[in-house]
Amino acid sequence: MQQDQVLIIDLGGTDNSDLARLIRGWGVYSEIQSHDLDPGSLPGWPHVKGIIYNGGINRLVDGSLVQPEPILLQAAVPQVAFGCPDLDAINQNVWDEAGVKEFVFDTCACTPGWTAQSFIQSQVENIRRQVGKEGVLLGLSGGVDSSVVAALLLEAVGQQLVCIHVNNGLLRKGEAEQVVNVFGKQLGANLIYIDATERFLAKLAGVSDPEQKRKIIGNEFIHIFEEEAEKLIGIKYLAQGTIYSDVVESGTKTKKAIKAHHNVGGLPDDMVLELLEPVKYLYKDEVRACGLELGLPPEMINRQPFPGPGLGVRVLGAITKERLAAVRESDAILHEEFAKAGLTENVWQFFTAVPDFRSVGVKDGNRSFEYPVIIRAVHTVDAMTATIAHIDWAVLDKITRRIITEVAGVNRVCYDLTPKPTGTIEWE
Ligand code: XMP
Repeated sequence: MQQDQVLIIDLGGTDNSDLARLIRGWGVYSEIQSHDLDPGSLPGWPHVKGIIYNGGINRLVDGSLVQPEPILLQAAVPQVAFGCPDLDAINQNVWDEAGVKEFVFDTCACTPGWTAQSFIQSQVENIRRQVGKEGVLLGLSGGVDSSVVAALLLEAVGQQLVCIHVNNGLLRKGEAEQVVNVFGKQLGANLIYIDATERFLAKLAGVSDPEQKRKIIGNEFIHIFEEEAEKLIGIKYLAQGTIYSDVVESGTKTKKAIKAHHNVGGLPDDMVLELLEPVKYLYKDEVRACGLELGLPPEMINRQPFPGPGLGVRVLGAITKERLAAVRESDAILHEEFAKAGLTENVWQFFTAVPDFRSVGVKDGNRSFEYPVIIRAVHTVDAMTATIAHIDWAVLDKITRRIITEVAGVNRVCYDLTPKPTGTIEWE
């Protein structure tokens, strides 16, 4: 990263991400780092123009206040703290947006130069330097993150990139076919398609704990990649579409993990490939901007995010083929009807989930004992917080009628009204 940057040192603040995004929005790169950072270990350190110590309610860890590394406090760049009254050697400030702007541009004299274009340029150079003539393997799910990573790597190393699309049996309706068409046929990437449905479902049989499900799915992906990599010659790297919210939500030294994102947790200890995560420091909207800059079609870039563990975290509890089919079919109906109602562009993410309990109902004059389908539709900018989409009753009514008549094993439809927080966007 050749551009000026401002570091946010996490001293237990709950708004680290808001602060980083605010500064990035002004074209100055900003990264969150932990309190015990050794500046020498940071490749971008020569470009750091200022440090913000962001204190807050999570500062007390195991009974004592986390403190910044003394070497960090001695760094010869402007530094500021708030929420940290004990750091009296540094400017204390209670800030608003104007105060942060003044610190970034007046005190630190940062030049705004961080754009999608400059990010791509520097990442392409970094990737070429790191990868050399080695091969790179990418798990291409077809979601936004892995698609952008594929485009970035195609730009950087061309045919040294081998994409593997693993159909884990947890994909949305028609998704595997679409990936093969777009990447294999239209973009001419090296693409290997593997149908591993039965293998995944066998590993997941009877497993109801969400974190365990995520770990199993993540591990199985990696094992399949390694098996495939062994068949290929010269593969040294495994690329992943990890993004910043995955990293932040997987826990920091002052904050417990919200959930293990499969891109971050779940990697086996004995993994032999080296990880390449070129969009790890980007938030979702920034990943999309890079995708557009890389020339990917807007309909692909604006596609909704889809979790790595796929429908596996939307079939709540232990996965069964019956409820997997119910999620897949109801999700397809939801997408069809939202498109007809002109909602696809307006709602950030929408999907269905099916819990692992049944309720009593009436079908064709008889008692039924079947599963409910839960509809989730949210607005958000970066997936860190979310609000509920207000959908016309007529649209919800039509979707409900279609789901209860067309989807086997379902007798009830519910609409989830919970914002994030307190709910996460996904149910698991
Ligand atoms: P949550 O449920 O954490 O979701 O509020 C935030 C956004 O991230 C997506 N998501 C994931 N994406 N791997 C991913 O690549 C994952 O394990 C994962 N879990 C959730 C989710 O769909 C939402 O857009």
